[in-house]
Amino acid sequence: MSEPGPPAQMGGGRSAASPAASAMELEMSETLLGEGRAPAKVILVGEHAVVYGQPAIALPVPGLEARARVFAIAAGPTRLLAQFPSAESRPPLELDLLAAADDEPLAAAARAALRYAGRTERTPWRIELTSQVPSGRGLGSSAAVAAAVVRAVGAAAEQDWDAQTVADLALEGERRAHGRPSGIDNTVVAFGRPIRFQQGRAEPLVVGAPLCFLVADSGRRGATSELVARVREASEARPGTYAGWFARIGQLVDDAATAIARGNASRLGRLMDLDHLILQAMRVSTPELDALVAAARGAGARGAKLAGSGGGGAIIALVDADGAAAVRAALIGAGAVDLIQVDLSATGADADADRVSAAPGAPGGPA
Ligand code: PMV
Repeated sequence: MSEPGPPAQMGGGRSAASPAASAMELEMSETLLGEGRAPAKVILVGEHAVVYGQPAIALPVPGLEARARVFAIAAGPTRLLAQFPSAESRPPLELDLLAAADDEPLAAAARAALRYAGRTERTPWRIELTSQVPSGRGLGSSAAVAAAVVRAVGAAAEQDWDAQTVADLALEGERRAHGRPSGIDNTVVAFGRPIRFQQGRAEPLVVGAPLCFLVADSGRRGATSELVARVREASEARPGTYAGWFARIGQLVDDAATAIARGNASRLGRLMDLDHLILQAMRVSTPELDALVAAARGAGARGAKLAGSGGGGAIIALVDADGAAAVRAALIGAGAVDLIQVDLSATGADADADRVSAAPGAPGGPA
């Protein structure tokens, strides 16, 4: 990803600096104090039920990432400049951390990190953020940017924060972005490795044999907070039914963890299919997502399901390495606007992404 550097023109609340201060800032803009990165993520099984205390499995997507850098500036307050993926119409954001609203997700994450570091919003730092992670696709964009900012602030303060601390601080951003998140997104992007997550706790996933997944973007945006609220309302209207579905998803997740540890791809695929059936019953899937799931299965995927909150966003399919090309072609034929391949290695310590843009104009793809 090319480094855009400080945005030349940014709207919204930039305090007028004197020419002398601007010159000094420019001069000091090369003083890099710290840097932080965090990857995108995808939920393999367990979304929605994880909000109600059930386990879920999530994978990092390291080929797509958010990156934050902290520079020394002449005078406070701390400022945060963010640029989002070029294919998104979202304008760059410039925040003065003293003045930014309490419900601004990035400001909340940055403030939490500053305070944990023993600093305040008056610290003369400029935090520059760039992100390749498209939003509204179930790829954890809000968690990735929050975790990258937190890490960069920790590095600038010369503090060595472990993954759980980064996850906890990034959760302050996720709370503003999603209302009542389970915490899985900020946790997997902070750990940067495949995890089984339950009630705030992450365990590394044991991977018995390499597994290959394709994540296909339906091209429609989903709003996590709306979908989570919709499931909450429905579960309050039909508590018995939803409690049963959540518990069943929890069992599927534990069975999936066992299948992954044993390298049993056909079993994992069946479990993904079952999870999708329950998510359909919960009405969080869409015709576009169902079409992608059907296309993947029809082309030989071992299993497929929606990934993330639904209502748009992406699906994830488990494929045999030698059958991936056929599934890719079928997904593109069924309307996928972008494909990401995630390879899970047998050590369980890493996931690898090979991003293939399916169409011009796709998020992160050719303009
Ligand atoms: O951000 P998404 O779309 O991947 O969804 C997050 C997963 C949910 O379970 C739907 C919400 C949560 O907080 O866990």
